[in-house]
Amino acid sequence: MIKRSVIEGVGSYLPERIVSNAELATRVDTSDEWIVERSGIKQRHMAADGEKTSDLAIAAVKKALDHAGRDGKEIDLFVLATATPDQTFPATAARVQAALGRPGVPSFDVQAVCSGFVYALAVADNFIKAGQAKTAVVIGAETFSRILDWNDRTTCVLFGDGAGAVVLGAAEGQGTAADRGVLSTHLHSDGRHHDMLYVDGGPSATQTTGYLRMKGKEVFRHAVVNLAEAVNEALGANAITIDQIDWLVPHQANKRILDSTAHKLGLDPARVIVTVDQHANTSAASIPLALAVGVEDGRIKKGDLVILEAMGGGFTWGSALVRM
Ligand code: UT7
Repeated sequence: MIKRSVIEGVGSYLPERIVSNAELATRVDTSDEWIVERSGIKQRHMAADGEKTSDLAIAAVKKALDHAGRDGKEIDLFVLATATPDQTFPATAARVQAALGRPGVPSFDVQAVCSGFVYALAVADNFIKAGQAKTAVVIGAETFSRILDWNDRTTCVLFGDGAGAVVLGAAEGQGTAADRGVLSTHLHSDGRHHDMLYVDGGPSATQTTGYLRMKGKEVFRHAVVNLAEAVNEALGANAITIDQIDWLVPHQANKRILDSTAHKLGLDPARVIVTVDQHANTSAASIPLALAVGVEDGRIKKGDLVILEAMGGGFTWGSALVRM
């Protein structure tokens, strides 16, 4: 028998305010037609004034705990992926831990931008496999609206705010792909591409928060190659084929990237969970948000084989294969 971490519950939270493409077009030189055609995005949610990343995260975690039938006091570890923390420090995860009434256990943030949730899941999974935690909450939470340059139409129309979370619990498995739980995680980065997608501020560099900058075409090109490779790596490591995958839950950056990746993998597009049209790109939050949508609407069921994949600034990329 080997130790596995099983997803016991999922939850998500989206800020109330929905901003349509048409509304954006009143303040930015863009159009609904361009945004839909180039990205598949129709709308995004935006945090209210004063609503922080930790507020979104706490709401998502409460729902994930309810779904898992767990109390926050049972959680041994809080790992939160974000590129838009409340403050430079302390970690936003510490805010969540305090709100959940669980002082004393480790809480920290993981920074891998849009790949953050896959990175955070890998970290928590390894804590559980090593016996250092029995239950963990893994969160992706972002308020990207705070770092958008509203004078840069090539980026400001693409992102949204939101949070998603999963509760992991320790379980035992046979060590095969038939086990429930996180079957594998594969993480990568290539820092040579740091200037393709970055924020032009920061406490050490400029003493300002800065704004998101992206060379969209370059990122797009790398994304399709890296994402398909990350999925194939997971399939190979678990000796399974793409037709055994029930659901692909990808990072939601652009509908064209999702379509190209599915095509490259030979995966039926009907088996891809798509939320980019409703949520836009919520960076580290997009995978747990999409996972929650798929579970809540009944598409993703217990026992289904689900592959998560993401690519983001760094560059960072990776995948996680999970049997729900
Ligand atoms: O989450 C991390 C990963 N991020 C991504 O994966 C994003 C990857 N990249 C992309 O999704 C796409 O490259 C974009 C959606 C960002 C852009 O699509 P594109 O097909 O690469 O468009 P483009 O940048 O080549 O721009 C085409 C045209 C340009 O006009 P000209 O130079 O052809 O006259 C832009 O100025 O579209 C123009 N344009 C816009 N027009 C209306 C750029 N942004 C806008 C806009 N509204 N918002």
